[in-house]
Amino acid sequence: MRVPMIAGNWKMNTTVSEAIKLVNEMRAGLDEITNVDKVICPPFISLAAVRELIKGSSIKLGAQNLYFEEKGAYTGEISPLMLADLCEFVIIGHSERRQYFNETGEIVNKKVKAALRAGLKPILCIGESFEENEAGRTEEVVTEQLMASSARIYYLSGLIIAYEPVWAIGTGRAATGKQANKTIGFIRRTVSEKYGKRIARDVRILYGGSVTAENAAEFMNQPEIDGALVGGASLKANEFLSIVRQTSKIKQ
Ligand code: PGA
Repeated sequence: MRVPMIAGNWKMNTTVSEAIKLVNEMRAGLDEITNVDKVICPPFISLAAVRELIKGSSIKLGAQNLYFEEKGAYTGEISPLMLADLCEFVIIGHSERRQYFNETGEIVNKKVKAALRAGLKPILCIGESFEENEAGRTEEVVTEQLMASSARIYYLSGLIIAYEPVWAIGTGRAATGKQANKTIGFIRRTVSEKYGKRIARDVRILYGGSVTAENAAEFMNQPEIDGALVGGASLKANEFLSIVRQTSKIKQ
């Protein structure tokens, strides 16, 4: 059985005090829900404070990125070891990193490997652009991204995949539940062909892209979709809570 997961990607939002306020608003409500993995991913500088606040609760913590070297002269970067000391998950290969920070498949692959070596669980983001979608290249693109950063061991180590069509991120134009289910089903079949049925059965695949309290049920009602990576809506305590509560009900 795949445990559903709702992860909140706060992106470059919230000061440390705003992060503390937001966690305080959602902590009790999130903690009550036990059949869903609830992960919050604040900016690096808030990880330590948030970690203290959620201590003893069932809420899990993730980072939004990392650098693939363990330590050294890489001014401004954050290493897997630093994160492993603070959190359990790390988002890797988000389309905003691929788009604005030139992260290639090769870099994403290095980051996934480095995260696993440090004992972190990567949430690997893949997804096609608007043009690729229009050209009917969705399956080709997600296969390429999956293969650029995949190895059997990744899946056995608890890697999580987030399918995020780039055209749906931050645009308010979510995919339909059916569309997302179809592509996620395709991703699962691809994993199955390459790594076997058991791994494909166990790997969690989330949908991401304009998930809100209004449309969450549409996605969670799909059999292939194991949860969501939520951006904008994760910055509002009530909305994030509602998404988690709906998921808990639908997936029980
Ligand atoms: P969004 O972002 O929910 O604001 O579209 C999702 C994501 O980028 O993970």
